[in-house]
Amino acid sequence: MIYFDNSATTKVNSEVLNTYNKVSTDFYGNPSSLHKYGEKAFQLLTSSRQQIAELLKVKPSEIFFTSGGTEGNNWIIKGTAMEKRVFGKHIITTSIEHPAVINSVKQLEKLGYEVTYLPVDKNGFVRPEDVKQAIRKDTILVSIMAVNNEIGTIQPINEISEILTEYPTVHFHVDAVQAIGKNLEDQYMNDRVDFMTFSGHKFHAPRGVGFVYYKEGKRIEDFMTGGGQEAGQRSGTENTPAIAAMAKALRMLKEHEDSSAKQQLELKKMLVDHLEDMNNVTIFSPVTDKYAPNIICFALHGVRGETIVHAFEEYDIYISTTSACSSKKGVESGTLKAMQVPENIATSAVRVSLDDTNTKEEMLLFINALDEIYNHFQILN
Ligand SMILES: Cc1ncc(COP(=O)(O)O)c(C=O)c1O
Repeated sequence: MIYFDNSATTKVNSEVLNTYNKVSTDFYGNPSSLHKYGEKAFQLLTSSRQQIAELLKVKPSEIFFTSGGTEGNNWIIKGTAMEKRVFGKHIITTSIEHPAVINSVKQLEKLGYEVTYLPVDKNGFVRPEDVKQAIRKDTILVSIMAVNNEIGTIQPINEISEILTEYPTVHFHVDAVQAIGKNLEDQYMNDRVDFMTFSGHKFHAPRGVGFVYYKEGKRIEDFMTGGGQEAGQRSGTENTPAIAAMAKALRMLKEHEDSSAKQQLELKKMLVDHLEDMNNVTIFSPVTDKYAPNIICFALHGVRGETIVHAFEEYDIYISTTSACSSKKGVESGTLKAMQVPENIATSAVRVSLDDTNTKEEMLLFINALDEIYNHFQILN
């Protein structure tokens, strides 16, 4: 099997799974329990938080565990809206965000909040000057992703941060779910970013665990009320096995981040070079430093994305239409639509997404299959 759908989810690393199993079987106490066994679980939770904070060069108190990216985005957006509602009800986001952001702000619109959805240029980039123009006196939040999950554009977070230094009371949230571990930190982690969202299953940790970076001194409304875990802001018995596993996965990712990003970029280049020699193909993710090293979105004109995905399936190769969320619904990609890509091309798009486990041999096999699929459909056309 060749798995090239890593932006949808990744395989849990076996050492990470060992950690999960060990914590589940040997340290299953409740971190809130008074006894020694609970205390042990609490220590594990604390050391996981410390480890993640160290890897991201932030404070442990700025890391809050969640169930994943969707929860992180919901919490930061709705938590800001609730906390700051007396100061204003205007939110700025982009038209290419993940549904966890778009649908959160849509819900807020129903409650009377106003949302500006920034457009993108024809290559899928937000223009920093558009952010500046959109800011109003009543703006409370700007939410912009670091790396787009459909085509891999790296959004100009640092330039936008500079603009936002003039508006210190506006919360700046960055959805960094697709950015972590791709050697891109200097492009989105800076002092002006107040909140960031991360998800474990995108980097070989189990499903259902993630974390948010929540800058010291900032305040959003509690997400889950209950027993007061996570500094009282996200109650619920902590998922200690998954959290410890996630800390391990992040450490492993960071150990070889530079070389693995380079390796993914090399594989991406192999594919993009090949696609560039083919007729009736549009490439949405060129090989430049403005795009993530692991995502390649392209369209084979005249064949629907789903058809291409299923054709690869015959070779035991797994890719996506532009995002896992939209693929089963058969809807056009939100990002390509925002880029004003004609519908007939947008619906022909597929996404290949690599990770640190993929090899050159796999890419060669993929390219062979691509050629066969391409020829097959050219004949039918
Ligand atoms: C950019 C982005 N944000 C948020 C999410 C949601 O993360 P999760 O699947 O952990 O809820 C995803 C998942 O694909 C994503 O790509």
